[in-house]
Amino acid sequence: MVRVLITGSADGFGLEAARQLAQHGHSVYLHARNESRAQHAKAACPGAAGVLTADLSSLNETKAFAAAINAIGEFDAIILNAGMLYGPFRKTAETGIPAMVFVNVLAPYILACLLNRPKRLVFIASQLHQQADTSVEDIFWFKRGEAVFEDFPAYCDSKFHVMLLANAVAKRFHGTSVVSVHPGWVATKVGGTEAPDKLEDGVETYIMLAEGNYDQTLTGKYFVPKKQLGVPLAATNEINLQEKMVKACEDVTGLKLFD
Ligand SMILES: NC(=O)c1ccc[n+]([C@@H]2O[C@H](COP(=O)([O-])OP(=O)(O)OC[C@H]3O[C@@H](n4cnc5c(N)ncnc54)[C@H](OP(=O)(O)O)[C@@H]3O)[C@@H](O)[C@H]2O)c1
Repeated sequence: MVRVLITGSADGFGLEAARQLAQHGHSVYLHARNESRAQHAKAACPGAAGVLTADLSSLNETKAFAAAINAIGEFDAIILNAGMLYGPFRKTAETGIPAMVFVNVLAPYILACLLNRPKRLVFIASQLHQQADTSVEDIFWFKRGEAVFEDFPAYCDSKFHVMLLANAVAKRFHGTSVVSVHPGWVATKVGGTEAPDKLEDGVETYIMLAEGNYDQTLTGKYFVPKKQLGVPLAATNEINLQEKMVKACEDVTGLKLFD
């Protein structure tokens, strides 16, 4: 039996992975953005051990979420799955960062800084990181601003940025297998209605990583559906870009990612 937390588990990949893990007899903690989504998640996954609530576009709620997770005790696996794509800039209150960038990039950074280290830490990225602007400039949209924001290219960039972050974390967290995942292009709120891939193929990868049924000396690697290793953009392994990313996150949060 493993203890697992999956962020954003009120829907999509996160909910289905949580359901299957609970059916396998694991201790599964769900997470939802608010109380009403938490009720929905709990009803959809009645075997869960608990459900935590936090809006991951909020700095304060994300920090409080980390404390609540740590209070539960040690986790075998934490899957940072919550993400979003569509929608306007939505400037977040405490930082002014667009909500999508906060949820996809900054919330995983904050959690990586504040969480007690699990045995396995999984960052859900996307193959769309391959379409990103790899310059790692203006990550948080402070310079360009709302007028030029388009959700799709901004999403591609956010997934490249979170992969740089995952690889930076992998270098620092000795004894934790830190990986990133493309779960498949699937018809969820993020994937849209035209998506051709199967949810269950991506969920297979989530289950393998949660249960630890793989070589856990692997760290800084990229998985794809059906438990396979994928080939990420070479730039995700560039240490100068990874460190630029960490520095930007540190500057905006005041939190340090320790070795
Ligand atoms: N579907 C695809 O084709 C695809 C492809 C590549 C990568 N991904 C990635 O896979 C992950 C899961 O996405 P999905 O496809 O399963 O889509 P989904 O069904 O929309 O799931 C995303 C989850 O994140 C939660 N979330 C979004 N914003 C949040 C916030 N501010 N605070 C807390 N939770 C929040 C959502 O909550 P609500 O349910 O309340 O909205 C939802 O439960 C994401 O990281 C996504 O980028 C998906």
